[in-house]
Amino acid sequence: MAETAPMIPVNEETVFGGDLSTPDPIPEAGIDAAVRLMRDGRLFRYGEDRNSIPEAALLEEEFADYAGRKFCLGVNSCGCALFVALKSVGVDAGDKVLMNAFTLAPVPGAIAHAGAEAVMVDIDDDYVIDIDDLDQKASASGARFLMLSYMRGHIPDMDALMAVCVRHDLIVIEDCAHTMGAGWNGQLTGTFGAVGCFSTQTFKHINSGEGGLLVTDDEDIAARAVLFSGSYMLYAQHRARPSLDVFERHRYQTPNCSMRMSGLVAAILRSQLPILENRNSNWRTIYDTLAPMIAEIDHLRMPARPEKEEFVPSSLQFSIEGLSDEQIDVFLQYADAHGVHVKWFGSRDPIGFTSRHDHWRYLSGHNSTDVPNADRVLHGLCDIRLPAWLTADDCSTISKVLREAMGDATGP
Ligand SMILES: Cc1ncc(COP(=O)(O)O)c(C=O)c1O
Repeated sequence: MAETAPMIPVNEETVFGGDLSTPDPIPEAGIDAAVRLMRDGRLFRYGEDRNSIPEAALLEEEFADYAGRKFCLGVNSCGCALFVALKSVGVDAGDKVLMNAFTLAPVPGAIAHAGAEAVMVDIDDDYVIDIDDLDQKASASGARFLMLSYMRGHIPDMDALMAVCVRHDLIVIEDCAHTMGAGWNGQLTGTFGAVGCFSTQTFKHINSGEGGLLVTDDEDIAARAVLFSGSYMLYAQHRARPSLDVFERHRYQTPNCSMRMSGLVAAILRSQLPILENRNSNWRTIYDTLAPMIAEIDHLRMPARPEKEEFVPSSLQFSIEGLSDEQIDVFLQYADAHGVHVKWFGSRDPIGFTSRHDHWRYLSGHNSTDVPNADRVLHGLCDIRLPAWLTADDCSTISKVLREAMGDATGP
């Protein structure tokens, strides 16, 4: 973004007074559970010899039930869950892993961590993986794995996508960092592929600062994941796990990578599962209020969202069309100065959380000319966070700020 003097709003300009970066607080029940655990001191998820059931084991059991999968493992971030998932499905150093070009840095980070090679797949104009390009890249690369990121909660046509995956015999890992509780045509994300990975980082659907959850129905993947996550020989303390004889097949072959979830994190998260559906329904209402307002602003386009996509929008994306980089800078700066922080995926340099495939230069073999549509789409792609407390009045103020910002960027 170009360096310019900070803008000071004049009286008649609309200003949004809320803070879009405010996280959701921890419910009192979670605070009480965390304090109890701190008094007890048993913050490590395992005990050498214990009678009580650890919080992490209870959370895993409850989340497996919520996610509709047999097995669940808590780890210390979604990035770790993605890494553990890659290793547990059998990705070895040098293996090729297909991934959609629109995602966040922890996704290519997990592929690099596993020593694998990312094969970038293009996206379509509505921000999801381009299924024809997946078909073509799967054939050309011979990759056996797909890391499918539902980036910012956008879900592709899962019927068409899974048909391509079956045809190429791809093992699918779903990155559900933004889709906890979301689905396609009545089926939850995290249940389409071999493994689903979720984030509980502060700005996700449930908040523990850091945290990740991995779910699967495959007993060998589940046992390997528990061992990789750093269970020592204490895996019997898990409750959402396969039977102990499955661990016998893997315990001598699987390194301990120490990516465990702490008991404190689990205690905080357990209190949020019962209110997740309520939060998700607030987000849907907010999106349904704000999205049509933004769609009416000149030069802004909302993505099409198919009826079968049951998304849970904790953020909102739109595309800026027909503006120069300088005009986009003016739009962003005006919005920011008036209380609406807009993230822009087209920025030349990575900023804050936001980076792009051509910034991930550590990836071996990636050539950004491989994903021309992603380059075009990401150039105009913007993102705002939707805290679950936004009211209809807040939505109206935010859309007014964006409309005025666009006026400022495009002139009279
Ligand atoms: C799309 C996506 N995948 C994975 C992650 C990784 O989550 P975590 O921060 O829990 O490692 C993030 C983080 O924001 C993300 O946005």
